[in-house]
This record gives sequence, structure tokens and C-alpha cells, in this order.
Amino acid sequence: MTDPTDPSGMPHSAVPATPEKKPFLYVVVCACGIAVEVGKLIAAAQERCWDVGVIATPQGLGFLDTEAIQSRTGHPIRSAWRTPGEPRPLPPADAIAVAPATFNTINKWAAGISDTLALGILCEAYGMGIPTAALPYLNAAQAAHPAYRQSLGRLREMDVLIGTYEPHAPKVGGGAGRFRWEEALDLLEPRLVRRS
Ligand SMILES: Cc1cc2nc3c(=O)[nH]c(=O)nc-3n(C[C@H](O)[C@H](O)[C@H](O)COP(=O)(O)O)c2cc1C
Repeated sequence: MTDPTDPSGMPHSAVPATPEKKPFLYVVVCACGIAVEVGKLIAAAQERCWDVGVIATPQGLGFLDTEAIQSRTGHPIRSAWRTPGEPRPLPPADAIAVAPATFNTINKWAAGISDTLALGILCEAYGMGIPTAALPYLNAAQAAHPAYRQSLGRLREMDVLIGTYEPHAPKVGGGAGRFRWEEALDLLEPRLVRRS
């Protein structure tokens, strides 16, 4: 949908944060089997006029084709903290998509634990007012844990947008076919327009 008052004629969902600069999306990738497909989200975001940088949890890094992602985004994948004095490898985020989001990272994030770079970025995003969406990907046995429900409640209170994936049955494989990577963009884009 285009906005007739917008001289750029760009779709409303892809209006950059400034006229010259594309909005910058951090894609935080956790350690799930489905993480290997994160290229789907990167490609969709780029088609929708985002610039993208990837932050992987240390465990998540092992699930990724790092060369392909770096070539696709034009940015290094971040996973560890930089050393003092080292320049920031990525521009600041206009929005953050945590996809896929593990049971582990969701619970630690909600509890304010910051022992990976990914969690450090997520824990600070709330105070910085950066629009953030999480697409959990987990099984129903994990989702049944009382801590998980509490964590989702805490994240919602923090205005984190949560994806709609219904957890798959344990021990029988995942539901990759019904995991909607683009849902992260659908959730975030209205928030970005409000900020710009
Ligand atoms: C092959 C494989 C697939 C996994 N898939 C999932 C998953 O779909 N969801 C999940 O929450 N954890 C999954 N895990 C467990 C996480 O990798 C584990 O909890 C890890 O500590 C998460 O680390 P992170 O949250 O820092 O990425 C999987 C582990 C392996 C080895």
C-alpha cells in the first residue's frame, strides 16, 4: 500500500527511518535446527527495503552458513563482544527480530540475563526503545514449563511483539513448514513507521 502523501511512493511498510538511509534490522538467531533457513528472513527483509545485520548466539552460530549470510548482508555476523576500542561492526538497530527464538534465550532475556552478546543487545533494547519482535520456535514440552509462560508475559509487558507459531510436538520433528519468517517484519514495520 502506498501513501499518496509520501513523495517517495514507497510502500508504507518499507518507509526508511530517514529519506537517505534504509532502516537497519538486527536479526538475532538462536540455536534451533530451523536457524539454517534464516536466509528466508534476510531476503524478505531486504526485499522490503531493510538493511540487515545478523547476531547469532554462540550456540546458534553453529547452525548457520556464515559465509553465505555475510555475503548476503554485507556485514560480519556478530556473536561475541568486541574488544575495548574495536569499532562497532554494525550500525545501530532501528528494529530487532529474534528469529528463531529458543526456549533458553526467551527465558534468559525475560529474566534479564545478559551472558551472550545477543542477550546483552536484547536486554538493552527495551531501555533504548528499539522495536523488538521474537518468533519462538520450540516444542510443546518446552512450552509447558511454567517459566516459559511467565517469560512471554514479561516480554509482552516490555512491548516485545511475539510471533504466533504454535509449538510442535516433542520428539517428532519440528514445524518448519508453518514457521512464518516474514511475521517478524509484519510485526515490526508498523512500529518503525511510528518512529520515523
Ligand atoms: C539439533 C538441535 C535442535 C534444537 N532445536 C531447538 C528448538 O527448535 N528450540 C529450542 O528452544 N531449542 C532447541 N535446541 C536446544 C538449544 O540449542 C539449546 O537450548 C541451546 O542452549 C540454546 O542456546 P541459545 O538460546 O543461546 O541459542 C536444539 C538443539 C539442537 C542440538
